[in-house]
Amino acid sequence: MYDWGLKNRLSRVIKSDGKTVMLAVDHGYFLGPTTGLEDAEKTIKPLLPYADALMPTRGIVRTSVSPISETPIVLRVSGGNSILDEDLSNEGLTVSMEDAVRLNAAAVALSIYVGSQNQKETLLNLTKLIDEGHRYGMPVLAVTAVGKNMVRDARYLALSCRIAAELGAHFVKTYYCDGFEKLVKTCPVPLVMAGGKKLPEYEALELTHNAMIMGAAGVDMGRNIFQSEAPVAMIQAVRAIVHDNATPKKAYELYLSLKKSKKTGKQAKVKGITASAAELSRH
Ligand code: R5P
Repeated sequence: MYDWGLKNRLSRVIKSDGKTVMLAVDHGYFLGPTTGLEDAEKTIKPLLPYADALMPTRGIVRTSVSPISETPIVLRVSGGNSILDEDLSNEGLTVSMEDAVRLNAAAVALSIYVGSQNQKETLLNLTKLIDEGHRYGMPVLAVTAVGKNMVRDARYLALSCRIAAELGAHFVKTYYCDGFEKLVKTCPVPLVMAGGKKLPEYEALELTHNAMIMGAAGVDMGRNIFQSEAPVAMIQAVRAIVHDNATPKKAYELYLSLKKSKKTGKQAKVKGITASAAELSRH
């Protein structure tokens, strides 16, 4: 059974409806200045009010996020690799638990690379982090990273998610795949879906909807939000699906309406769902 502090932190990330919309902005830890995050502060600021949690590195927290923000931080604490590496799995822990606590993180996140050259090291990093997490009351998010040449199918991702949960991860982030429900059914902790490469907005909303109806606890989405033509409209449309069970069609209508209202200054309206309803659902 988790301690009170750990449960309290986790409840700041996964809301009372059991769902979460996390905004992933940690890409720079191995990708450098990712498209849409070149000026991280500018990108993050307008999105923060709509994110249940933000997932950055500590460098971005300290330089680009206001300390008076109430949005919980899920801190990326693994790295050491770069996009120039042939094998991305060469990751270690990059942040001490003490610094994560100093930053008032609500959870910490690291990548595991099951089936890679560095499988054992990344899994032992996970268990080390979980042991420290229990000492400090800090939940651990395991990210099932996929190497450059690895297949993202249900068999592989179910294996990775289950191993992460067996080793004690408090929640797991993984990619969407055909047979996603298998991942959810065989993973005893909440599973959040990573967005992956930028897709047309409607497709990203469909992906979100599919993951949610198959039992995901929400999303940890980056590029499909901050690389959208209208990021603030997009995150609200994602929220409508995750927290208000909106269909992809309704959510897309909301997206278009919010995008338009930004230009015209008029309030966005979609029958059956409003932007303010989506916003209110996070409280
Ligand atoms: C990997 O670079 C990071 O863990 C990202 O946070 C993760 O891939 C989610 O971001 P996206 O939705 O852009 O894939």
